[in-house]
Amino acid sequence: MTAKKLYLRSFGCQMNDYDSQKIVDLMEMHGYERTEAVEEADLVVFNTCSIREKAQEKVFSDLGRIRDMRDEMGKKDMVIAVGGCVASQEGKKILTRAPYIGVVFGPQTLHRLPAMVEKFQRTGRSQVDISFPEIEKFDHLAEPKATSASAFVSIMEGCSKYCSYCVVPYTRGEEIHRPLMDVLVEVAKLASQGVKEVTLLGQNVNAYQGKMPDGEMADFAMLIEYVAEIDGIERIRYTTSHPQQFTQRLIDMYGKTNKLVNHVHLPVQSGSDRVLAAMKRGYTALEYKSIVRRLRAVRPDISIATDIIVGFPGETEEDYQATMQLIDEVGFDESFSFVYSRRPGTPAAYLEDTTPQEVKLARLKALQEKIYNHSVKISESMLGTVQRVLVLGPSRRGRGMMMARTDNNRIVNFVGDESLTDQMVNVKITVVNPHTLLGEMVA
Ligand code: 5AD
Ligand code: SF4
Repeated sequence: MTAKKLYLRSFGCQMNDYDSQKIVDLMEMHGYERTEAVEEADLVVFNTCSIREKAQEKVFSDLGRIRDMRDEMGKKDMVIAVGGCVASQEGKKILTRAPYIGVVFGPQTLHRLPAMVEKFQRTGRSQVDISFPEIEKFDHLAEPKATSASAFVSIMEGCSKYCSYCVVPYTRGEEIHRPLMDVLVEVAKLASQGVKEVTLLGQNVNAYQGKMPDGEMADFAMLIEYVAEIDGIERIRYTTSHPQQFTQRLIDMYGKTNKLVNHVHLPVQSGSDRVLAAMKRGYTALEYKSIVRRLRAVRPDISIATDIIVGFPGETEEDYQATMQLIDEVGFDESFSFVYSRRPGTPAAYLEDTTPQEVKLARLKALQEKIYNHSVKISESMLGTVQRVLVLGPSRRGRGMMMARTDNNRIVNFVGDESLTDQMVNVKITVVNPHTLLGEMVA
């Protein structure tokens, strides 16, 4: 029997990319094979994102296009399934807007997708399940499978912070933490398959509280300490963290293990205390800077990436300038910054918002330029340094060149053999361009 074909599109964040990979693994266990050609698919899955309005609207326009294609080709049996945060938020309402959808599943019910597809095919009735069954998801997924020397491991799901602008607590549910041993066993399995770099994943990883076999709880710092002891793991990353629970114990870990990369993604959202309070972030700009100062006391050249929202309701020019000042004080290396998007059902959606969109867009542009300039300076400061990098594979620059990733997420090209793929090597940076670095391998 030929395998059924699965076409999957992932929208949005790393959490979604992680879930998408799990969907692929799960469907492969149920006789599907992934295809990049949507027209040959038996099952089309959209793993959606609703963090901003644009992302959500894109889902609906793209779905409409797939439906048209299906009808034009007369492929009546092609099943269209929608998962992720749009599914979770809209639930049954999706079927009113797009009645041709066969399956609607949420981030916490993706493991039920095979059964839901089968039931839809059997009954012809659209299936909707966007519930939040406690942690069940992790117990029903395929075994972890390494595809390269770098792997993601989810340690928690959902978010209980309820920032006033954000849909995540409603779409992914409240925080659920995986037991410590489950995470460690998964990392060890991946390491035994050749994984050297692990990224611990969750909405607020540093809020982690993992049950231990003796009933005690492990915090995030302890989790890192154990992960660092697993044979084969050479590099530990995590995303995303929250300033509120960025404990001194976690900061101290940067001094204890050099497996923790010299890079952290720590969303600040705004540099104005007034806006931070309206966002319900639970810290001030000074408290954020205190974390940075203490981190830099341990790791002077740590690279700091952040998320910023520009144009939150009521953001004045003065608030915006406070954010610009914070950017200079911290010297962010990278930002995921966006104009505020009103999300129905969140508390901020009811706030008065009088700043014109053009003003917000101009603020965003200037802010992104500022961060870009910092990033260029950081690249320049890397000239002549020796970086420990993970080799990704042959470079697009041509034969004999390999590419690798530095701790601070820069791609460096160097002369090397293909057998270096998936190895950690030392590279001295010899040329700095705006977008890439060149280097040479050193002992
Ligand atoms: N509008 C704009 N950006 C948002 N984010 C979350 N909600 C919104 C919103 N309503 C951003 C935050 C968060 C990142 C994942 O997405 O910066 O850190
Ligand atoms: Fe959203 Fe805030 Fe939770 Fe991040 S911490 S997912 S911004 S509610």
